[in-house]
Amino acid sequence: MSRRIVIAGNWKMNHGPSDAQDFFRRLELPAELPDGLEVLVVPPALSLAAALDADTSGGRVAFGVQNVHWEASGAFTGELSTGMVFAAGASHVLIGHSERRHVFGETDEETGWKVRAVLDAGLNAVLCVGETLEERRVGRLEEVILRQLDAGLGPSRESGSLHSSRLLVAYEPVWAIGTGETATPADASAAHSLLRGRLMARWSADSFDAAEVPILYGGSVKPGNVAELLAAPEVDGVLVGGASLDPDSFGQIVAAGVERLQE
Ligand code: PGA
Repeated sequence: MSRRIVIAGNWKMNHGPSDAQDFFRRLELPAELPDGLEVLVVPPALSLAAALDADTSGGRVAFGVQNVHWEASGAFTGELSTGMVFAAGASHVLIGHSERRHVFGETDEETGWKVRAVLDAGLNAVLCVGETLEERRVGRLEEVILRQLDAGLGPSRESGSLHSSRLLVAYEPVWAIGTGETATPADASAAHSLLRGRLMARWSADSFDAAEVPILYGGSVKPGNVAELLAAPEVDGVLVGGASLDPDSFGQIVAAGVERLQE
């Protein structure tokens, strides 16, 4: 399998429809995006249509949403279903972002239901995991991120819905999100190796090659540190929050992905 690099921007609760249009009017992508480079933008769901409309990349940018409900429809005020997400033109869903877990109380179990619903709907799931500073300090990093991974992927490898080509994992240490603190490339590699090892040990099966699951790093990624993070072993891309809001800096981060693939 040839190398994949995924550059993803998570806008969180920023950029309404007109800002989304402005972003895409100003975004300059490299003329040629090499095979293997995937660019993903995850706007607020209300800005998705405007972003799709303003995107002139000719399908080179994929779009996602930041959350989804596991049920197909019903009395779930404020929620989105996978069917709606698909129909609206998104291909990816972030699941278990640390803000969903820590601000909105999303549980490990719910992330598992969401991953299953997303993959069953033919969408791509980006399962986010990461430890808090306190968990890292007391030596619980491994336990926490592997527990989140196991819960997000569900109870067994027998699951028919796990397809490696539509599953991505993002390691985002909570202490590095929006703080300006970045894990060192060595920290990121160490955590990614743990995740890769667990994916290989527990999830590889005939229908699921765990070696192919991209593992992205997220947490204060910016143009100035993206190259060293992408150079780290086991880092297959980045999930960028703050620095993805500005088209110039997001464009520079995409360019770093192109360079990494061409090395
Ligand atoms: P940040 O956010 O780049 O602003 O730290 C990353 C994320 O939460 O995905």
